[in-house]
Amino acid sequence: MAIRCPAGFDTGYLKERVYETYDRVAREPNGEFHFHRGPAYASGYLKYDMEELMALPEESTARFAGVANPHRIGKIAPGETVLDHACGAGMDLLLAAKRVGPRGKAIGVDMTKAMRDCAVAAARKAGMSHYVDIREGVFEELPVEDESVDVVISNGVVNLAPDKEIVFREIHRVLRPGGRLFLGDVVVQRELKPEARENPDLWAACIAGALTEKELPEIAGACGFTDCRVTEHFDCFKNTSAEVKVSKDLYVQGVNFFAKKP
Ligand SMILES: C[S@@+](CC[C@H](N)C(=O)[O-])C[C@H]1O[C@@H](n2cnc3c(N)ncnc32)[C@H](O)[C@@H]1O
Repeated sequence: MAIRCPAGFDTGYLKERVYETYDRVAREPNGEFHFHRGPAYASGYLKYDMEELMALPEESTARFAGVANPHRIGKIAPGETVLDHACGAGMDLLLAAKRVGPRGKAIGVDMTKAMRDCAVAAARKAGMSHYVDIREGVFEELPVEDESVDVVISNGVVNLAPDKEIVFREIHRVLRPGGRLFLGDVVVQRELKPEARENPDLWAACIAGALTEKELPEIAGACGFTDCRVTEHFDCFKNTSAEVKVSKDLYVQGVNFFAKKP
């Protein structure tokens, strides 16, 4: 159930397509893509606070490619340790860093070098380098110690994983007991047609690998999480080329999702 890799593709091929896509987002944030990017999208479609975004370096905000808003799921307290397990250019990570403050820590992991470079530059410009730590890695094998994190945030990335269970088990491993998961991801309300599931561009655009809304809490629960619930929906593909091609028929939406490690 948790494995979504389309028949005929190996996971290595999909990962290369995902890497190419987000390498290009980092280099050409205003290029042509099937999905929205940037601060106007974040505030207009996902309810981020525009004033707060404007106070962050453009290196991070222009490359934002999330699908929901993990910061609306729950509070992050001063002094806590937060991990963004695929932080991209770091917009959510820097917002989390503002909440934890210099007594806390904000760790970002991402596999795409050009994205990490933007996140590092943004943290430096924001004067947060001493408590923002950007690491190279993959969310299937996080370079993070067991039970060392209070909150994992995630935005628009679990759908990109061929095997969702591995990703939820890694999040569970790094969270302390009582730790929270604030996850934004794409879900489909109806099962996708095979043509959509097997389109690598739609995979990299965060659509083809999406779970159904019913599966998301089931998989998180099977991986040891409790209190699993969808808290909010977003029309993250409205007015994109993906909407024109597929998402109107398929009811693809961004969701905020909460879960807790007991
Ligand atoms: C849709 S973007 C979202 C980035 C960021 N969360 C945001 O909201 O802007 C997907 C990100 O996931 C990263 N990514 C994809 N697969 C990954 C993996 N297996 N491990 C780590 N990062 C991955 C990509 O490099 C890209 O930066």
